[in-house]
This record gives sequence, C-alpha cells and structure tokens, in this order.
Amino acid sequence: MNKVVFKRKSFIFDFIFSNLDSMKSKKKIEELIRYASETRKFSQAKYSGFSVGAALLTRDGEIITGCNIESSSLGLTICAERVALTKALSEGKSRFTHIAVVGPTDDYCPPCGACRQLLYDYAPDIKIILSKKNDTKIIPLKELLPFAFEETKLRKS
Ligand code: THU
Repeated sequence: MNKVVFKRKSFIFDFIFSNLDSMKSKKKIEELIRYASETRKFSQAKYSGFSVGAALLTRDGEIITGCNIESSSLGLTICAERVALTKALSEGKSRFTHIAVVGPTDDYCPPCGACRQLLYDYAPDIKIILSKKNDTKIIPLKELLPFAFEETKLRKS
C-alpha cells in the first residue's frame, strides 16, 4: 500500500494540507488510496495489462470502488473512475467529495479526458487524489478540466 508522506516546507505539503480541512483526516486519504489500490485486483485489463483502481468518497463518508473493464472492441473499454461513478449513481449516491485513482506503475495515474468530463458533470467540485510511491497529490477537478463543457452550455439562450 502506498503511504501518504507529508513533506514539510514544500509546496506539496502546503497543497495537501490545505485540502485536509474538508477531508478531515490523513487516515481517510490513506483509506481511499488503499481501497483504490486493492480494487485493482478485479481489473479486467487483459488487452493493455494496465490495471487501474478508483475509490469514490461520498459526503456521508461511504466509499464506492471501481476498476477498469476492457473490451475486445477496445473503444468500449470503461475506465476505473467511470465504473466507480456509474456504480455509485446507480445506487442513488450522488454527492461526492473525493476520488482516489491508482495505476500499476510507479507514477501517478491521472484521469483521462472522458473521466474528467463525466466527473465534472456529476461532481464538479470533487478533488482527485493521485498516489504514487511515497507521494500523494490532491488536485481539484476544476484545475484538471478548466473551461469545461457543462449543462448550461446546452441552452440556446
Ligand atoms: N484507465 C483507467 O481506468 N483510468 C485512467 O485514469 C486512465 C486509463 C484504463 C483504461 C484502459 O483499460 C487502461 O487504463 C489503459 O489505457
């Protein structure tokens, strides 16, 4: 399991710490990362070999996991983040604060463009937790998807 390491006197420390207010505890971040990491074992990634896990946190503190599900028709593949989000929505859960995403490499696994859009449609204020060995970033989705397409843009006037 990746540990959240707080680097003092660094930008990343300030960044993580400022986000802890709404998150309440470092333990919850670690728990989300652990859930995301563990759910990778269910990943159906036989075409890419790239197994991804995601863990979505509701405002009530519930965690919903998802992993990537690939298809032989490659374009039908669904990312871990969208699996977690659609699972949650289909169970009537609709208010989310954070989502952790963990991939199989030593690097961060930031959500793809499609996942950013779908997360934006249902949880524009969500924060994305990205974890790699000995390091964690918490980034507001709005920073990852500035000037987003959204519901209001569908209106003609
Ligand atoms: N993938 C995810 O599940 N989430 C991401 O954020 C990036 C990519 C999956 C899709 C595909 O199954 C595999 O990773 C390789 O692209």
